[in-house]
Amino acid sequence: MIKLDYNFMMQEHIGAHGMTEEGIKKDLPKIQKALEKVVSNSGKGWQEWTELVNTPKKELDELVKFGADVRKKCEHFVVFGIGGSGLGPLAVASALLHFRHNELPKEKRNAPKYYIEDNIDPNRMAGLLDVIDIKTSYFNVITKSGETSETLSQFFIVYETLKKVLGEKEAKERIIVTTTVGKGTLYEIAKKEGFRIFDIGKGVGGRFSVFSNVGLVPFAVLGIDIHSLIDGAKASRTNSEINDISKNVALITAYLQVKSMENGKNISVLMPYSDPLKFMADFYAQLWGESLAKEVDNDGNKINCGQSPVKALGTTDQHSQVQLFMEGPFDKVVTFLAVEDYVALAPINETLGVENCDFLKGRSLNDLISAQMKATIFALKKQNRPSFTLSIEKVNAFSVGELLQYFMYQTAFAGAMLNIDTYNQPGVEEGKKATFAMMNRKGYEDKLKEVEAVKLSKSYQI
Ligand code: PA5
Repeated sequence: MIKLDYNFMMQEHIGAHGMTEEGIKKDLPKIQKALEKVVSNSGKGWQEWTELVNTPKKELDELVKFGADVRKKCEHFVVFGIGGSGLGPLAVASALLHFRHNELPKEKRNAPKYYIEDNIDPNRMAGLLDVIDIKTSYFNVITKSGETSETLSQFFIVYETLKKVLGEKEAKERIIVTTTVGKGTLYEIAKKEGFRIFDIGKGVGGRFSVFSNVGLVPFAVLGIDIHSLIDGAKASRTNSEINDISKNVALITAYLQVKSMENGKNISVLMPYSDPLKFMADFYAQLWGESLAKEVDNDGNKINCGQSPVKALGTTDQHSQVQLFMEGPFDKVVTFLAVEDYVALAPINETLGVENCDFLKGRSLNDLISAQMKATIFALKKQNRPSFTLSIEKVNAFSVGELLQYFMYQTAFAGAMLNIDTYNQPGVEEGKKATFAMMNRKGYEDKLKEVEAVKLSKSYQI
């Protein structure tokens, strides 16, 4: 269960930057309306993602079987996917596999080394091909649209290499495609080449797709417990659809964030105090950033809304960004992500008799990281900076499922409160089209003209 402490969002603790109970009460109708909108659309249209938690056990069992089969044959497992097609897999795999998974000797690893390639710097591709053995590698190419240039290019490079090294027949076995069945270029290629294809549901947008085959296929290959992951997400769905703001963590925190935005807090920091949860902040950054940044609302009013997500990590960023959070502009609201039980223990038995270090003797990194987090929460409160804390007991498949689903509901509620289309991303699409035009893709001639029309009358240089 995700626990919430939002004391330091309240005026009583942080003065004028906080909220009051009366203020929240006044906004209850708005909060209720958002809840009703999200719950009534549950499982419909672009909100089909809420139904992914009801994937039948039989289907999950089949995926586990498929994953085990690939795992047996594979030393290196590579995911090609970007945005929503990469960040979910990255957040889950880095949370749930051994923290140094790829560096573990083979006999201590019960899954292949994994690489989630969500960028196309040529050095990254060259580096990947240097470290994997193509003969023992499998590639999961994930793109919902089937059109994303980055992902398609990665696929083409690797498929050519696979064919050269292993021959056409074996190369085909090594490519697993996750895309929208019946639509898009990758689907057409996959059908023609005879690759194994996994479908992504139609009403499931990229950033809401981690519990679809986008996530489940790689997780199954990596031996992650997808049943518990989905169980956690299901529990979170139930909690997020409760018609009671005092119990509904996603709803209340969506409200706290939206209200903060209205109060000029244009930046939302997510700060996990957990290395395994580090990429949860990347997942959140896309979900929150892309979903809520919209030029117009549902009634056509120009609003240019959004709250810029900032990724931070405790304690690392205490020595980097926290100065900014403490004394910079009053434009931030911080979400702390706390873990009660780190499972691993790192005791500090000996401090060499150094008096200044006596306080550490007999303690542990567990004590220290928890104290550091509480100290940062306290220090921010002292500076009247709003923050709230989400806590989970342990990082495991269930709690990671809960958290991811919680973030999706929080975003859906915030979008409903802002009266925007949470599920589109016209800004992203424009960039994709301009890329096609600049790379001379057929059918994008007009777009190229539009791009080229932006001629610089003067170029500024020093
Ligand atoms: O959330 C989204 O829809 C986007 O960020 C996409 O995930 C991203 O652009 C990648 O798209 P695709 O999965 O079609 O390759």
